Formats: sequence, structure tokens, C-alpha cells
Amino acid sequence: MKKLELLEALYTISRSMHTLNIEELLHLILEGVTKTLGFERARLYLYDESQHLLELKMAVGMKKEEIENIAIPIYQEDSVIAQSLLQKKPIVVKDAENDPRVHQGLTQLFRLKSFAAIPLIGHNKVKGVITADYLYSQEEVTEEKVEGLMMFAHEAGLAIDNAEMYQKLQNTSFRLANQVQVTSQDLNNTMVRLEKSKKLAVLGQLAAGVAHEIRNPLTSIKILIHSLLSEKKEEQRQEDAQVITHEIIRLEKIVNDFLEFGRLRSPKLEGIKIRTILDHISHLLHQEFKERKIDFEIQLPDKDIWLVADKEQICQILINLIKNAMEAIEANGEICVSVTRPADLIEIRIKDNGPGIANEIKDQLFDPFTTSKEGGVGLGLSIVHRMMDSFDGSIQLEETRSKGACFLMTFHSYEAEEVEV
Ligand SMILES: Nc1ncnc2c1ncn2[C@@H]1O[C@H](COP(=O)(O)OP(=O)(O)O)[C@@H](O)[C@H]1O
Ligand SMILES: [Mg+2]
Repeated sequence: MKKLELLEALYTISRSMHTLNIEELLHLILEGVTKTLGFERARLYLYDESQHLLELKMAVGMKKEEIENIAIPIYQEDSVIAQSLLQKKPIVVKDAENDPRVHQGLTQLFRLKSFAAIPLIGHNKVKGVITADYLYSQEEVTEEKVEGLMMFAHEAGLAIDNAEMYQKLQNTSFRLANQVQVTSQDLNNTMVRLEKSKKLAVLGQLAAGVAHEIRNPLTSIKILIHSLLSEKKEEQRQEDAQVITHEIIRLEKIVNDFLEFGRLRSPKLEGIKIRTILDHISHLLHQEFKERKIDFEIQLPDKDIWLVADKEQICQILINLIKNAMEAIEANGEICVSVTRPADLIEIRIKDNGPGIANEIKDQLFDPFTTSKEGGVGLGLSIVHRMMDSFDGSIQLEETRSKGACFLMTFHSYEAEEVEV
């Protein structure tokens, strides 16, 4: 083969050696040595650094069983192959049987005569050794052949290095991907457990609260029924029966509040005119205001103000807050609901001139079961808080200089045409 032809052939093979699969690459290298460079047999040894061994990985022109389990210790002195690796130099053998540098066991096994051992050098490390020879034609390995082999081995060494690096990278990325998967699964499990224990904790808290609330009226009902059965006087019996009815109504309220807290549905958002809601509430509570001698005042700007919220829930929030104010005032007082529109917000204030919020419950005012009332359940404000959250509004206690309590509800504001249907 002429030099130019050889170079061309080498160029073609080295381009095909860009595969990153090691097995495929080794095969391509050996095919190059035999088909392109014309050798009859070629063997490829890979260097196992940790074991200090050169392992025979693949061969062409030979039977599979001939090359099984062959490894050469790199410090073996009578091995041209090991020497070629250590010296990073090609070694040509003319007559293996009579050459002291050659291991005779291998000479006989492979029926070696004339052969060449060429190191495969990667970017900065020796990767292995190729040996090539002629068995049938008994041709001698010439300088020219070795030159071609060396050029080829140079490309092959770099290709092996690339493939190994790729494999390492791939292994690392597999490991990382695995780790990410395991970690995210762990995280998921933890979150599910956490969520569950959070729910259980809230449930436990609710159950304890409800049990506590229910126990008192139940105990008094039990005592009253006992006295009802033993009491002779009709008047006293009437009185007991009335107290029992009262306690049962209280029980009903506790159960209703509890159910409402647990069953909070997702809001049906719609455009609501605030004036309509407040007029409705004023009408609804009219009788109670009258009985308690409470002045109920509504202060609204002239221009209609619209909210985006759940109509029923907004009513319930306002009723909860106004009822709390009434219960705080007991009788003779004032409650004022005022609406303002600073910037792009809507603010609704529910203000009363009662005794104000007791200091000891201020910090947990919106927590379930916070109450200062004899028969109170303490779920009202926590329901209000959750509902306001669900339509992206907020509620807080506003400090005022005047006597009483003031709750401030804040919403995003919308133009009438944005919400009117
Ligand atoms: N306007 C108010 N004035 C004074 N205290 C109030 C007012 N609103 C609420 N509170 C206090 O907040 C507590 C919690 O209210 P709430 O959650 O509605 O439960 P409940 O009315 O069942 O006690 C009340 O017990 C009361 O002490
Ligand atoms: Mg209440």
C-alpha cells in the first residue's frame, strides 16, 4: 500500500472511530489493523491500572477461545507487550521463538513468529497495547508496516480515552440521576408523612376542642335530667327543661361551627356589590340590634364598590364579625362598618365601641378554639381567616386609639366593568 493510500485509509478509519461505545470502538480498531493495514491477526490489550495488568480484550483473525483469560502483568520482564506499554514505544520482533524478550508461553500459544507491539496512548496516559502479525503468509513485519500501525495506534489511543471519559461521565450522570430520583422520592414520602401528621395534629386539636366544648353542656344536661325526674314542683321542672333546651341549642351551635370549620368549601368567586351585601346583613340583624339597643351604621363612598369573592362566604364573615362585636358590647353601643378604597385596594372596617379584645388572647386571636366567652367555641375568627385567605384577601385586628375593637378586611379592588356581568 502506498503511503498516501495508507494515510487516506487511516483518515477514513479514524473518522469512524468517533463511536463512544468501547466494545464497538475496540472492534473498529482491530478491523483497521487487519483490513486497512493488511495484517492477518491483531490483538488488543487494555491496561488495568489498579491490577497492574494488560488484559487481552479482543482479537481478530483468531478464535474466541484462543484469547480467553489472558492477562500479562506489566512488570513481567520477558514480555514485549508489557515493555512496549512501560516504555511507551513500539517494539518489533522478527523471530519470537529465538528472542529472549518474548514470553515463550505466549509464543507457543499464539504460534508467534514476527510481530509488532504498539502502545495505545491516550491524551496523557497509556491505554493499552496492540499486537499485530501474519500467521498464514509468514510475512515479516516491516518498518513501513509499523509506521502505519503507529499512526493508527495514535488515533486509536485518543478514541479509547474519549470513549472511557464518556463512559465515566455517563456513569456519573446515571448515578446522579439515580440519586436525584431516590432523594426526591424520600422528600415526597417525608412530605406525605408530614402532611398526614399535620392533618392528624389539626384533627386531634379539633377533636380535643370539640370534646371539651361538648362535655360541659352534656354534664349540665345530665344533672338537669336527673333533677327533672326527681323534682316534684312543676315550676322547677319547667325551669330545668328550659335550661336543658338552652344547653341543647348550644350543643347544636358547637357541632355546626365544628362542621363548618372542617368542611370549608372552595369559594365561588363572583363580582359582588358591597352595598347590597351590607343592606342585606343590616336587614337580617335588624331585630337583634333593636333588642340590644345597638346603633348599626354603614359608611360607603358614593360610587359603587365591587368585590370579587364568594357572596355567601362574605356574608358569613361579616355576620361573624358583627355578632362578635354585638356579643362584646352586650347592649347599648355602636357598630360601624365603613368601606374605603385606597389605591387599588378595598378596605372594610368593622368597628365597635365595646371593651376591645382581651390582651391575653390577642396573639392567637385567629387560631381555632380561642375564646374568652363562657359558652364560646372560638372557631368564628379562624373560619373568617381561612375564608379571607381563600379569596386572596386578608383580615387583621387594627389598633385604634378609641375604645373597642376594629377588624380590617382588605381585598384587591376591581372596576365595576371588570366584574359586572
Ligand atoms: N369585637 C370584639 N370585641 C372584643 N372581643 C372580641 C371581638 N371579636 C372577637 N373577640 C374575641 O375573640 C374571641 C374569638 O372569637 P371567635 O373566634 O368568633 O369565637 P367565639 O365568638 O366563639 O368566642 C372571642 O371569644 C372574643 O374574646
Ligand atoms: Mg364568634
